[in-house]
Amino acid sequence: MKAAVTATAHYLPPDVISNSYFERFLDTSDEWIRTRTGISERRFLKQGGTSDLITPAVKECLRERGLAPEDIDVVIVATVTPDQFFPSTAATVQRKAGLKNAWGFDLSAACSGYLYALFTAAKMIEAGGAKRILVCGGDKMSSILNPEDRTTYVLFGDGAGVMLLEATEDDSLGLQDAILCMDGAGGDYLYMTAGGSQKPATAETVANKEHYVIQDGKSVFKSAVIGMAEVSAQIMERNNLTADDIAWLVPHQANLRIIDATANRMGLSKDKVIVNIDKYGNTTAGTIPICISELYHSGRLHKGDALVLSSFGAGFTWGSILLRWALDAPKSE
Ligand code: UT7
Repeated sequence: MKAAVTATAHYLPPDVISNSYFERFLDTSDEWIRTRTGISERRFLKQGGTSDLITPAVKECLRERGLAPEDIDVVIVATVTPDQFFPSTAATVQRKAGLKNAWGFDLSAACSGYLYALFTAAKMIEAGGAKRILVCGGDKMSSILNPEDRTTYVLFGDGAGVMLLEATEDDSLGLQDAILCMDGAGGDYLYMTAGGSQKPATAETVANKEHYVIQDGKSVFKSAVIGMAEVSAQIMERNNLTADDIAWLVPHQANLRIIDATANRMGLSKDKVIVNIDKYGNTTAGTIPICISELYHSGRLHKGDALVLSSFGAGFTWGSILLRWALDAPKSE
């Protein structure tokens, strides 16, 4: 038995923030942002929290599968921007979407959160511990960005995606393999200083702007290029796959140059790589499910397609998942 995706949906807030917006108050330019990252615009959620990004995607996912909210056993939310420390955002989504019979939890692994959550959910299904799991990934990154820091403010966006996992008796479909990695030494390069138990919020931490993302971009970039490319090539090798066997690379959307390096290492041509960083920036745990939902709804995913999902992020955390798509392309699209 394997765990397969039986529905997917995503949500992006309506407010579009173009690169030129930042030119008004930061020493930056549309040209710098586009050429260094691949980003042209992103979305910012004006009101509400991460649960308000995830809940509409959950409702749409259920609608497409023709299920009632009560039919869900488990909801997992991968995020680094929970609505609040507790209760979990999973509990809030459970309430807002009416998932009366579901238990669930949040999972924190930054940009690799979605891969960690997908693997966890698949193993729960394979072990017979759950039948229908909503695997959600989303972040309201705008809530933890310093508007005065040009090295981070321009990079991220808000958004969420969801996939429903259910068992399939066809072992050639669903989640086939996963390589998940972590190196805590990377914690020095991408982090938020205060607000946790080590350094709780005080008037001083707020005054010192310690509740924002801090990133040593160059160091993260170097590790990301190596980590994401290696793990993606490794999952191909150990499953005896060549570039011809892969339908799509679904990479975390942090930087177009990291995505290109990963595709090159895998020997994949550009037409097999899903890229939407230009429209949405880096939505952290949201990037991979948003990409997959967009691919599926545009009719470019077919039953049996081999997808390699790859990510790299804070922790450091990184990994790769081999997924065989189990749904036919939607008829109306
Ligand atoms: O998803 C989580 C994981 N995160 C990532 O994977 C991100 C990895 N890192 C990156 O994507 C890239 O390192 C960045 C996009 C963050 C930065 O690009 P870079 O080509 O590595 O630039 P850099 O950090 O080496 O900075 C080059 C210059 C610096 O100026 P000086 O020191 O050469 O005078 C920066 O201060 O660009 C400057 N700079 C900017 N200039 C205009 C940094 N940010 C900006 C900006 N606008 N927004």
